[in-house]
Amino acid sequence: MMTSADIRQAFLDFFRSKGHEIVPSAPIVVKNDPTLMFTNAGMNQFKDYFLGNKPAPFKRVADTQKCLRVSGKHNDLEEVGVDTYHHTMFEMLGNWSFGDYFKDEAIEWSWELLTVVYNIPKDRLYATVFEGDVKEGIPASSIALAKWKSLLPDEHIVFGNKKDNFWEMGETGPCGPCSEIHVDCRPDEERKKIPGHTLVNKDHPQVIEIWNNVFIQFNRKKDGSLEPLPATHVDTGMGLERLVRVLQGKTSNYDTDIFTGTIAETEKITGKNMTSAIARQL
Ligand code: ALA
Repeated sequence: MMTSADIRQAFLDFFRSKGHEIVPSAPIVVKNDPTLMFTNAGMNQFKDYFLGNKPAPFKRVADTQKCLRVSGKHNDLEEVGVDTYHHTMFEMLGNWSFGDYFKDEAIEWSWELLTVVYNIPKDRLYATVFEGDVKEGIPASSIALAKWKSLLPDEHIVFGNKKDNFWEMGETGPCGPCSEIHVDCRPDEERKKIPGHTLVNKDHPQVIEIWNNVFIQFNRKKDGSLEPLPATHVDTGMGLERLVRVLQGKTSNYDTDIFTGTIAETEKITGKNMTSAIARQL
């Protein structure tokens, strides 16, 4: 079984092999950006490259970013402790293209990494595609749809609206349509009874999103309008804790080697059984 350290390293090695520079995680407290208090996504530190305010030193980068989602637009606080896969702080694996490759390559490589390197069975994977939004004047994502159709059967592709399939950093800033990848971790008998596509983005504890591929094309302005950016970019984020849980065959992120050592040590110090405390809470 791959450890969480192996899984993290395999991600970075894979994207290095595709010409990406591996860069460090940015600090969790954001400096020089009054729109954000804490880093909520891997792309925060690259905001100026997307907006065209600064030239990117590399066209392709990858990293693993420590994120905190406790305030603002991306706030997971109400989910933590009531399900098995949200955390206040988590690690986000990401790869970026600054005006270089776009939807085809991003989707192709996410598929290759998940199915060839990590060996996740293809029939457990589902992709979501942006259905478009008339009010915003954005059409459905035909390129992402065509790419997924070349990789997955139609019943594994789910259309999503602006809430799930249009990613924005905050009230203002870089944004664009996205395509998420979900994994169905239910036992085979259950999968036979209820098709996985009906459970995507429905808060099912065993059908979870692991990776979001965002195609940054706009800047959301203060007045709410969308301004097309001078170039198009890729911004992806995969939750390390969720990926490890899938690859280690666990039903909860807390049962992976990311948490079990800390939980065991806490039990030793406090004399309390944390596993049953977590189970009771869930
Ligand atoms: N920025 C995207 C996200 O956080 C990848 O989901």
